[in-house]
Amino acid sequence: MPIAIHEQTFHLYNDTISYIMRVTPGGDLEHLYFGPRLPLNVDPTHLSVGALYGNQVADQFDPTVSLESRLREYPNFGTGDMRAPAYTASVDGSAISTFSFVDATVTTGKPAIPGLPATYVEEAAEADTLSIELTDDVTQCSLTLQYTIYAQRNVVTRHASFTNHGPAPVTLSRALSLCLDLPDQDYVLTTLMGGWARERQVTTRKLQLGTQAIGSQRGHSSAQANPFLALARPNATQQTGEVIGFSFVYSGNFTASVEADAYDHTRVLLGIAPEQFSWPLAPKQAFTTPEAVMAYSPTGYNGMSQTFHSLYNERLVRGAWRMQPRPILLNNWEGTYFDFDEPKLLALAAQAQAIGVELFVLDDGWFGHRDNDRSSLGDWVTNRAKLPAGLPHLVEQITALGLKFGLWFEPEMVSPDSDLYRAHPDWVLGDPNRPRSLGRHQYVLDLSQPAVVDYLFTALDSVLQASPISYVKWDMNRSLTEVFSAAVPASEQGTIAHRFILGVYALYERLRHAHPDILFESCASGGGRFDPGMLYYAPQAWTSDDTDAIARQSIQYGTSYVYPIASMGSHVSAVPNEQLHRTTPLATRAAVAYFGTFGYELDLTKLTAATLATLAEQVAFMKAHRELLQFGRFYRLSEPEDPHPAWLVVDDNADHAIMLDCTQLQQPDATLRFRRLAGLTPTAQYRSDTGEIYSGAELIAAGIRIDERRRGDFSTMLLTLDKIAIQEDEHD
Ligand code: GLA
Repeated sequence: MPIAIHEQTFHLYNDTISYIMRVTPGGDLEHLYFGPRLPLNVDPTHLSVGALYGNQVADQFDPTVSLESRLREYPNFGTGDMRAPAYTASVDGSAISTFSFVDATVTTGKPAIPGLPATYVEEAAEADTLSIELTDDVTQCSLTLQYTIYAQRNVVTRHASFTNHGPAPVTLSRALSLCLDLPDQDYVLTTLMGGWARERQVTTRKLQLGTQAIGSQRGHSSAQANPFLALARPNATQQTGEVIGFSFVYSGNFTASVEADAYDHTRVLLGIAPEQFSWPLAPKQAFTTPEAVMAYSPTGYNGMSQTFHSLYNERLVRGAWRMQPRPILLNNWEGTYFDFDEPKLLALAAQAQAIGVELFVLDDGWFGHRDNDRSSLGDWVTNRAKLPAGLPHLVEQITALGLKFGLWFEPEMVSPDSDLYRAHPDWVLGDPNRPRSLGRHQYVLDLSQPAVVDYLFTALDSVLQASPISYVKWDMNRSLTEVFSAAVPASEQGTIAHRFILGVYALYERLRHAHPDILFESCASGGGRFDPGMLYYAPQAWTSDDTDAIARQSIQYGTSYVYPIASMGSHVSAVPNEQLHRTTPLATRAAVAYFGTFGYELDLTKLTAATLATLAEQVAFMKAHRELLQFGRFYRLSEPEDPHPAWLVVDDNADHAIMLDCTQLQQPDATLRFRRLAGLTPTAQYRSDTGEIYSGAELIAAGIRIDERRRGDFSTMLLTLDKIAIQEDEHD
């Protein structure tokens, strides 16, 4: 049983980690420890850092301690803890609340969170869950904090639920998912920051006194800031040192903050952003926060990422596509944009089939009268000007070639020029007394309204019923503004941003249920909603609209901090690249795209026979290695500031590995350099695809020699290694 309870001290543990907290005399929940496994009999008073410093205000129940200096599990507002709280619950205008301990229960397994994405277990023995119940006498609310520890993973997951048991309405104006207080400030903070076409760039800074925070107010998790942060010891590298990663299983507005206070403590908070959140709890109503995941790594950033990858691959992604190699696709977007008709698509599909592609994806423009991005979102019926015989006819032709068929939708949006908008202007988010802002010429549908979700389910379901469609790309191309719903009273407007996301999740869930074999790929102008919440519904995500192989190196490198390689949509596109006008070698474009779902996004009908033959070889390479590439253990071999991004995947027994090392701008007379590998068996010998024999120990300790002298800009070294024998130890 990995949760031990002793005199109101709770110790969650597995073989590697411990998480310890206790109830204080006043009923507060004090955090004591999160780190490497400790013995079960550690005296909790040894771990407490609570004290009364300077002019601090004393705890009402213990005059020797201030709440401000105590490490706390889910801090309140207004009674002496001057740091940012985890929640505020108000009654009659007072936001002061004090939840005190009532009871704790341990259950095996991990309960689902209704209506929200969450990690799960298949067997009860995989995890244990601790539910701690607290109550506030004045608001008459109960608070349940739920903690799950996995037996075989260095992970603790958390969320909180409030229930109003009293007669008066309670308002939650902040209800975060996680607080973790740490007893010192010797950390480097890593976040994944960016923008459109430059998502998830690794950003590190030494923790400074004060609050450093990231978040999104866009209604989606965003390209600008990912719902993740890590705190690492300053000496941590990709391979070594202590790192704690925090990941939020949610797709809407979020806040992730780190407060380094005056007493050498650090507070991490993660949850729904409070700015657009105000949740009225009528008597008997409850509110449950989304899940937050904490991963502890004693083996650097790679250990953290590998923990997230295996958890998200195995126990967040669900259904038919969990741990399944992903189909190699051709997407027509960068090849044709809106300019296509049935013969053109069939010509593309025939070429795709000839080079071994498995899935043909028809992107934007197949519906309504859409010829550009100014019309028809919401009207999910065939564009007869482009496809006069209808979409089912096209699907029939393409599947007859032996290809699977995939289709693009943007369900959450509506064009002002659409039949849907003309019929239902009240289905759009916005304040009726104010003008609405357009983004990419479109409005956002009010998915907080069940009628809108019903309409979208019926519209999409009927397209998916009519043809054998096996993949859906679900796009979302503008941020939310004027977040106001005509369907609810003034007192509920603060619920809309969250209810919108609940509507997105409900729609996904219904479509998944009706079409369990469809592979969903999420997209938000590229990677604007690449988050764990989405992965629960859509096992893969379009990583970025930037398909340039050099830009992709840092985008995919950053994305890999949290997200599995199998979740990263990655395609080879034409040169000069659409976004950067850069020309990179075809081999480089493929080498980078191999570390993802792999596919093409170009007009195959314009390529020479020689190029098509090369593409066929690339497809064959991907087919031969995709289980390793997509689901192998992933190691970043370069630090973020290294001018040569490099990484490696290796299978469970370290029998096979594939490494990529990239050259960006070439140096004159480039000197030889060595790239040290990881994850291999030191005592084994490996044969490379070039026929060289190396010892694992040599590749790990000395590295592989990289000679760039005969290469140009934007070249790569892609190396496959296969174990050939276990070496005898020469001293035996
Ligand atoms: C977004 C997506 C692209 C493509 C276009 C279609 O930008 O990220 O991949 O689907 O929309 O309009």
